[in-house]
Amino acid sequence: MSVADFYERLSPFYHLIYQDWAASMQRQASQLDSVIRELWGDRIKTVLDAACGVGTQAIGLAQLGYRVAASDISPVPLERAKREAASRGVAVTFSLADLRALSSGHSTTFDLVIACDNSIPHLLSDDEIRAAFREMYSCTADGGGCLVSVRDYDPSEAGTKVVPYGLRTDGERRFVVFQVWEYQGPIYNLAMYFVEDAGGPECTTHVMRSRYYAVPVVRLVELMTEGGFHDVRRIDGRFFQPLIVGFKNGEA
Ligand SMILES: C[S@@+](CC[C@H](N)C(=O)[O-])C[C@H]1O[C@@H](n2cnc3c(N)ncnc32)[C@H](O)[C@@H]1O
Repeated sequence: MSVADFYERLSPFYHLIYQDWAASMQRQASQLDSVIRELWGDRIKTVLDAACGVGTQAIGLAQLGYRVAASDISPVPLERAKREAASRGVAVTFSLADLRALSSGHSTTFDLVIACDNSIPHLLSDDEIRAAFREMYSCTADGGGCLVSVRDYDPSEAGTKVVPYGLRTDGERRFVVFQVWEYQGPIYNLAMYFVEDAGGPECTTHVMRSRYYAVPVVRLVELMTEGGFHDVRRIDGRFFQPLIVGFKNGEA
């Protein structure tokens, strides 16, 4: 299953990853805003969310007053993001673009280029990730920077594990949500399950499958640096995942 196919199947359920997606959007935007202001003052006006998905960060940041463009490789979540932004009266410019060819999808530069919630590890090798960071660098204005958030992978992890998300209700519908990971070296196969229980004798299981590269944060810091950014660093305790930030000229 391609990344786009995985997110096509996941898109209608995406909000169920969170207990309260709307509240998470607001919380994530205000946490990112606090880090952005601390590192760049009020220099950041325009943001490119280069892996926007259904718009969790893009919509929240636009609601805070940033001018946001948002792209993704997967068309179906992009369509949902457009609807979610429109229903909230939020202006975001959405487009299709691959992180590895980001500059061909965007003709201007942005003060900040972001890719949050573990989008980067969909790229399955150091070469692909380095290429993506180079493209993010090309799309960044002088004095601006890059910010990504990722899972904090344990490099010694191997084998198979279940990652529980919990019980979710969606109107009258009830779901049990979990993932199964199966490692093959540093790459793992992921299956995401939404078990829908309508109270009868049978349940309906919605499953979607993808692959991730369990790349350690320390390696991503090196790869972002090789992509052109300077003073690249890890920031903990400010977002639900570790943040990695880097700068383009001007700032440190
Ligand atoms: C876990 S989702 C996060 C989406 C969004 N940041 C959010 O939190 O709602 C990861 C996203 O990365 C996107 N993605 C994966 N590989 C990509 C690539 N090569 N170029 C652009 N987007 C990509 C997927 O399509 C998906 O929307």
